[in-house]
Amino acid sequence: QTIYLKDYTPPAYLVETVELTFRLAPAATRVVSRISFRPNPDATTKDFVLHGSDMSLLWAKIDGAEITPSISATGLTCEVPNAPFIWEAEVEIAPDANTALEGLYMSNGMYCTQCEAEGFRRITYYPDRPDVMAVFTVRIESDLPVLLSNGNPTGSGEGWAEWHDPWPKPAYLFALVAGDLIAHTGSFTTQSGRDVALNIWVREDDIGKCAFGMDALKKSMRWDEEVYGREYDLDIFNIVAVDDFNAGAMENKGLNIFNSSAVLASPETATDSDFERIEAIIAHEYFHNWTGNRITCRDWFQLCLKEGLTVFRDQQFTGDMRGHAVKRIVDAIDLRAFQFPEDNGTLSHPVRPESFVEINNFYTATVYEKGAEVIGMLKRLVGDAAYQSALDLYFDRHDGEAATIEDWLAVFEDSTGRDLAQFKRWYQQAGTPRITVTDSFVDGTYTLHLAQETPSTPGQSVKHPFVIPVAVGLLGQNGQEVVPTTVLELTQAEQSFHFEGLSGRPLPSILRGFSAPVILKQSQTGAEQAFLLAHDTDPFNAWEAGQNLARAGLTAMILDDAKPDRAFLDALRLAIADEEKDPAYRAMLLALPSQENLAQALFDAGHTPDPDRIYASHKALREAIANHCQAILSRLYDEHQLTGPFSPDASAAGKRALTNAALRYLSLSDGPSRAQAQFDTADNMTQQLAALSALLSIDAGRDALSAFEAHWSKDRLVMNKWFALQVASAEPENAVAVTEALTQHPAFNWKNPNRFRSVVGALPRNQAGFHRADGAGYRLLADWLIRLDAMNPMVAARMTTAFQTMSRWDAGRQAHMRDALRQIATAPGLSRDTAEMVDRLLG
Ligand code: ARG
Ligand code: ZN
Repeated sequence: QTIYLKDYTPPAYLVETVELTFRLAPAATRVVSRISFRPNPDATTKDFVLHGSDMSLLWAKIDGAEITPSISATGLTCEVPNAPFIWEAEVEIAPDANTALEGLYMSNGMYCTQCEAEGFRRITYYPDRPDVMAVFTVRIESDLPVLLSNGNPTGSGEGWAEWHDPWPKPAYLFALVAGDLIAHTGSFTTQSGRDVALNIWVREDDIGKCAFGMDALKKSMRWDEEVYGREYDLDIFNIVAVDDFNAGAMENKGLNIFNSSAVLASPETATDSDFERIEAIIAHEYFHNWTGNRITCRDWFQLCLKEGLTVFRDQQFTGDMRGHAVKRIVDAIDLRAFQFPEDNGTLSHPVRPESFVEINNFYTATVYEKGAEVIGMLKRLVGDAAYQSALDLYFDRHDGEAATIEDWLAVFEDSTGRDLAQFKRWYQQAGTPRITVTDSFVDGTYTLHLAQETPSTPGQSVKHPFVIPVAVGLLGQNGQEVVPTTVLELTQAEQSFHFEGLSGRPLPSILRGFSAPVILKQSQTGAEQAFLLAHDTDPFNAWEAGQNLARAGLTAMILDDAKPDRAFLDALRLAIADEEKDPAYRAMLLALPSQENLAQALFDAGHTPDPDRIYASHKALREAIANHCQAILSRLYDEHQLTGPFSPDASAAGKRALTNAALRYLSLSDGPSRAQAQFDTADNMTQQLAALSALLSIDAGRDALSAFEAHWSKDRLVMNKWFALQVASAEPENAVAVTEALTQHPAFNWKNPNRFRSVVGALPRNQAGFHRADGAGYRLLADWLIRLDAMNPMVAARMTTAFQTMSRWDAGRQAHMRDALRQIATAPGLSRDTAEMVDRLLG
């Protein structure tokens, strides 16, 4: 059944304290609870309802007297006093039978939990909603050597340990871990001089993969003190790596639980992108301690309150650690690759959704990444200093509370005096705004005319204008900047902005730094794009101009059989030779718009994209670049090689990114010898995987692929790369067969979410392979999702998003996609999670 934001009511009872005792056993864990409740003075009902599922109640008492509640599949109710009272109960649960990986479950003999969003109700009966915050005390009984929960340790002995978390928290932040683990330890002294013990807990084999994560944690702790004034608030901070995990990681108070892929790294096994991602996720989860835990969400509709803000904070952090220009480009690429298709397809929803069936289906790119963009826009509109005062006020005013987007915006209104009523539409209206640009130049006055329009989305046919910060700069004839970056505030459907006193017609650089998550429509000539690529002082827009030039050329190749655009090839060659530009940035210039991005752009321009033509043109342009730029690429490859021991820092990673981008092209022009040599001698995964990928891209990787497998067969994380790379590199006509064959591989374990994602989940990312005209890609995915759904609904439901671009394709493909979705929809016993997704996808 559907839950609506407008139906929110406060909880009938509040919780003061929770005492839990766990007697761990794989098939029959006992959980004893002692919970002190009191009636909520703000309540509108007196009904006492506790959530609970997949457990058996052994007994329950109120104020010491045994009672018999009435129990349903989702919870229980009973009569309670109209005064504070103590609830006690004992339940039995089976962690080893928990394949959904929500609540308490087992991974390789270790017990662990995932409670966000509503997993705690699989552990014991409780008001499992984020606006009920309580102080937890936990006792764990088990023979396993390491027993962890939230907060500070308060005692332990043979077979038991106790933990106390002094900070009131909602149940979704509860965590428990028990296993045969060892710790990579560290320590941190906070700003105010308190010592914090730090641990990363792993299986023995993984102890050599923790150093980088520990370093990232310390950097995150320092950064949050320096930039946001936020200090850590417990004596200990634990991180645990788990092999079976539905998401990336989880910010449980004092006990962050991580997908092992999001924390474990060594130079031999992790790529530079893994290092960067791990640093960002460690930061993200740590930053949640304030934005999420100390201040949490009133209800799940407010998810973006913690996620959008925390993503924004981790993006700022990565920018500070590794450079803002490249980080902004990476974030824009990701937003366009994952959020734009969502916002422009059948799954489109506002940053703050207004209804849901299963909240796990709303941990989306819109809530997270567009949620972060909205905060970035707010910051740009009010300015850095006002942003900082607003955040200070937010922490001050709402510490210890479960807050809303209204609270968040009120903080900005109260501290800046600005009216944010119109800005709030970013939280309420779904869809990606289009801004159309026209301009004129008369008597020294340049006029930019901006018109905004947002297409309708499911359930929202009428869209009102947004407040859009459009950062603009103007360039003169010789490339000098005649007007530096200025933020225009577009608030109307159409608006003109004037720049006076100019000596000649300038060239505008619009939406600098990608100042808003919108699609810009402007008619630029190839010459103008090449000019901006060479001269724009804004690194984002210089890169963007290169992408626009490439996209225009590709579009002509796809639609009109044009030859590769000579102007683009020349401009690119010039740009990558510029030793003033940093290597990481030049690596970004060398990456063409993705095939997905081209399909999106073609559809937006009124065409029906053909994935095979997109694939072929993409390949042809890559070959043309390889031949046109061979000399400079080969010089870049040689001159930016690193010597000495591996370092994952940004500057070394940038050089590797550049040489590896060059290597891919050089393999096309010159054959496999460089890549083979790099593969044979690489001492780190970045170089090794890039070489393998270059070899596979020219069908010369068979031997390297077996050598890689033989060498890494015992390392799960590395083997995930081996699987995913094969699906990604398969030719369109082979991708389904390759995927199918890999599902037969002895090391394919479909019950492990990471492994499933690296094989079945990799197929939709091979655009032309997945969207095969005969529908075989869709059928393969549907079959696997039906199978997985019975086991792990959350992961299955998430992967149905591969169908979200349905309306983009031709009638034949659409029909096959519908058939696949109907096949999923009619599978017996389909989960609520997947049922909701398929329902929305079918429209
Ligand atoms: N809060 C976690 C994070 O942002 C993610 C939890 C994912 N949970 C889920 N039900 N999808 O890091
Ligand atoms: Zn988060």
